[in-house]
Amino acid sequence: MASIVETRELTKRYSSVTALDHLNLAIPEGAIYGFIGPNGAGKTTTMRILTALLKPTYGEAWIAGHEVTRDPKAIRKLVGWMPDNFGVYDNMKAWEYLDFFAASYGVPEARRKQQLDELLALVDLANKRDEYVMGLSRGMKQRLSLARTMAHDPQLLILDEPASGLDPRARIELRELLKELRALGKTIMISSHILTELAEMCTHIGIIEAGRLLVTGEVSQILASLQPHRTIEVQVLADAERAVELLRAVPGVRDVRLQDALQALPQENPLVAEDVDSTSRLSVLPNVLERVAISVDFVGDDRDLSAMLQQLTAAGVPVVHFAGQVSDLEDIFMQVTRGVTQ
Ligand SMILES: Nc1ncnc2c1ncn2[C@@H]1O[C@H](COP(=O)(O)OP(=O)(O)OP(=O)(O)O)[C@@H](O)[C@H]1O
Ligand SMILES: [Mg+2]
Repeated sequence: MASIVETRELTKRYSSVTALDHLNLAIPEGAIYGFIGPNGAGKTTTMRILTALLKPTYGEAWIAGHEVTRDPKAIRKLVGWMPDNFGVYDNMKAWEYLDFFAASYGVPEARRKQQLDELLALVDLANKRDEYVMGLSRGMKQRLSLARTMAHDPQLLILDEPASGLDPRARIELRELLKELRALGKTIMISSHILTELAEMCTHIGIIEAGRLLVTGEVSQILASLQPHRTIEVQVLADAERAVELLRAVPGVRDVRLQDALQALPQENPLVAEDVDSTSRLSVLPNVLERVAISVDFVGDDRDLSAMLQQLTAAGVPVVHFAGQVSDLEDIFMQVTRGVTQ
């Protein structure tokens, strides 16, 4: 896949602080690239260089073949930039706000009206068209700001912490919106200091700390290389005991544990005698609880994982859920970063 963004040895120094330290970044066209790092890591600095707002001390950056310092005009056409703070625009209605930015990007008036209605619909603000920007909620402002970055129909969107301060619903909506934009052919670079915030929506991630890129690549590959040891959650409707036995015999499986639901079985339950051990309790469980969750510690790749699931189903175990745990990415973040700040 061709890279739409590429940096070579990109370095930025602010007097004594090295904000970026020989950063080599490549973002494939069509990706949703999560740029993740703790506070002060250099995310905003990188993004401001990529949008031609800031000059690097050393090194180069290209967007779709244009070097950012040599060709800032081309960069502004190619890139939609959403900064991490939203400027104050008193006495401007939502549509005027978009119209203003589209006009400043040179979108002809005849096209602007239709375009701004489409943009407002895309970010789900059509009903706020005539409301004042200052009266919108934070989530709505973020969405309006996102619409603004698309006012000139750029190929690449660079979004600095667009999810910060949003409630869970607004976050999910943002995620869906970004997926839609990707389907429209946009490449998206999005920063955050929370890995799980980006985990589900990104195709690629890069983790930056103290101005250095620690890892970068496809989410699934990074997971596989950094986390050969993973936790799989299996839920079965019945036969939990047999499932545990089968799982213990699978190559690569290090440990199999029954999860809380099972341990939370009330002692006074008439189906369970006081003196039965946990194995014989298992056999009565499916009558009590609908699903039994089993957690499997496992070292292996996706092929081994699929073989594991096949073994369970071939033995007739009624599996209703089989998935890697989401916390994997948070673990990676802790594993990769060392808490270096400057
Ligand atoms: N204008 C500036 N003058 C001096 N130092 C700066 C300036 N801008 C950024 N820095 C320093 O550069 C480093 C990287 O800052 P940057 O804003 O790029 O980090 P960030 O990853 O975006 O952090 P955050 O998650 O807090 O937004 C920090 O140490 C910061 O203090
Ligand atoms: Mg920042």
